[in-house]
Amino acid sequence: MGKFIVFEGIDGAGKSTQAKLLGKWFEERGYEVVITKEPTDTAFGKLIRKLVLTGGDEGIIDGARISYEAEALLFAADRAEHVNKLIKPSLESGKVVISDRYFYSSLAYQWARGLDLDWLIDLNRFAIRPDLVILLDLPVKESMKRINDRSIENEFDRIFELQKKVRENYLKLVERFSEMKIVNAFEDVKTVHEQIVALVEALLT
Ligand SMILES: Nc1ncnc2c1ncn2[C@@H]1O[C@H](COP(=O)(O)OP(=O)(O)OP(=O)(O)O)[C@@H](O)[C@H]1O
Ligand SMILES: [Mg+2]
Repeated sequence: MGKFIVFEGIDGAGKSTQAKLLGKWFEERGYEVVITKEPTDTAFGKLIRKLVLTGGDEGIIDGARISYEAEALLFAADRAEHVNKLIKPSLESGKVVISDRYFYSSLAYQWARGLDLDWLIDLNRFAIRPDLVILLDLPVKESMKRINDRSIENEFDRIFELQKKVRENYLKLVERFSEMKIVNAFEDVKTVHEQIVALVEALLT
């Protein structure tokens, strides 16, 4: 069996940056690596982007506001495809799988929207547990500075409050899921990478 490592954290925490760096780190050591993300690029992931994550007439920001339960189910459906078609087969063939977000994102964000945490955990019980979940933790102010150009100006306060709640939720989840480790993402890219490598080396020995 390969190793399954997940990056979690609020928007702009550095997940994509660090996933790429860790992938390179493994490859340099001769491992076969699969870097993946959620929502995925499958039809389910595209539906999520269209209905949940984008603006416009069909998006949630100023269009069709789908219910939070439907949102959670869409993410779970996308994840079921992800687990069965990509994650499991890759691990079975001995590869290292690095995922940029996984079910912990559903828990942190959907819980922040007011859904019941235990229902969300039950819904995601099919999703195999990773060997290590790296929670990139940093103040919301800093993360929003990093992705400033991506934020929607008139939604700034609402987004700020949501991200703050999501950050708190992630930190609470660490008490429930022992595979989650907190990394201080407020440091520069290289220092954050070094903290991650230390955790990964501990996992491999
Ligand atoms: N440690 C760091 N210090 C300063 N800037 C950083 C750091 N890590 C990443 N960045 C920059 O911050 C921005 C957000 O990083 P990145 O895209 O990796 O975050 P993310 O967690 O994947 O965000 P999202 O959830 O929106 O996909 C990028 O422009 C990236 O270059
Ligand atoms: Mg990203």
